[in-house]
Amino acid sequence: MRKYQDLINESENLKDLEKIRVEIFGKKGILTSKFQELKTLNGNEKREKAQQLNKIKTTFTKFIASKKEILEKKAISEKMRESAVDVSLFDSHNEVGSLHPVSQTMDKIIEYFVSMNFSISEGPLIEDDFHNFEALNLPKHHPARDMQDTFYFNDSKLLRTHTSPVQIRTMQKIKPPIRMISPGPVFRRDFDLTHTPMFHQVEGLVVEEEGKVSFANLKFILEDFLHYMFGDVEVRFRPSFFPFTEPSAEVDISCIFCKGKGCRVCSHTGWLEVLGSGMIDPNVFKAVGYENVSGYAFGLGVERFAMLLREIGDLRSLFEGDLRLLEQFR
Ligand code: DAH
Repeated sequence: MRKYQDLINESENLKDLEKIRVEIFGKKGILTSKFQELKTLNGNEKREKAQQLNKIKTTFTKFIASKKEILEKKAISEKMRESAVDVSLFDSHNEVGSLHPVSQTMDKIIEYFVSMNFSISEGPLIEDDFHNFEALNLPKHHPARDMQDTFYFNDSKLLRTHTSPVQIRTMQKIKPPIRMISPGPVFRRDFDLTHTPMFHQVEGLVVEEEGKVSFANLKFILEDFLHYMFGDVEVRFRPSFFPFTEPSAEVDISCIFCKGKGCRVCSHTGWLEVLGSGMIDPNVFKAVGYENVSGYAFGLGVERFAMLLREIGDLRSLFEGDLRLLEQFR
């Protein structure tokens, strides 16, 4: 048995140890056959031999178990060593991430207005009725409120439906002259090819002493901006209505896909609507206590710009986080 003790001692892995265990305790194992030999003995001799064998059995069982424990620990640490990651190794398959197409578009928009001396303001995403509607000349029960499918909280708070409330917050905070944009997320209960419950807008606000800013200034800046964004396109101002501006205009560019000839994207009109704008309505100035001032404002949807610039058909795909799609917009 001495030989087996040495073998167990010297075994280097669990597989070898198991082999030795079978050699001792297996069906044809040495100890098993010794136990079988007991059958041929009688009386005292049998009892003594059996006691002796049982002692050997206990010793080897313990011996194997403690060696097993050592080898198991060794196996675990070997496995850990093998699967360890060397973070200092050079990886030639480095994947470089990139900005989301909406962020890229947002950055380009901000870049333009910052270069034209606009500052950046931000407002809360959870708004109250006053800033989101009331002060923007949208009193309770005004039909235009229905156009904005609002997410309401219980206590008259809501998720802002547009970035226009930042106009109000800015005018409450500072005196004119004001020249700011406000980028950020907005929320509406809407979900289809061209609408998601969260999207981004950029608001613009310019306020000066009365008479110092006119519709001509608004027209210049938006035309220049749209040429910066879309290159060589035609820009047209179309009379429209917003409660917070008077007069109001929606701004279209000639369709960048068919060059104005008419296609599916522009619904065969040759034009794409990209902006809302206008001269600030006197009721808005009244709500913030401004007197003897004039100004203009505009608002745009960033995802709409991103979809046009990157030719994305389904707005929802922008928010699914599918890397196969996002990788195309590096
Ligand atoms: N707030 C408008 C909307 O979400 C967009 C807008 C239109 C903003 C005209 C303006 C503006 O500042 O003058 O649909």
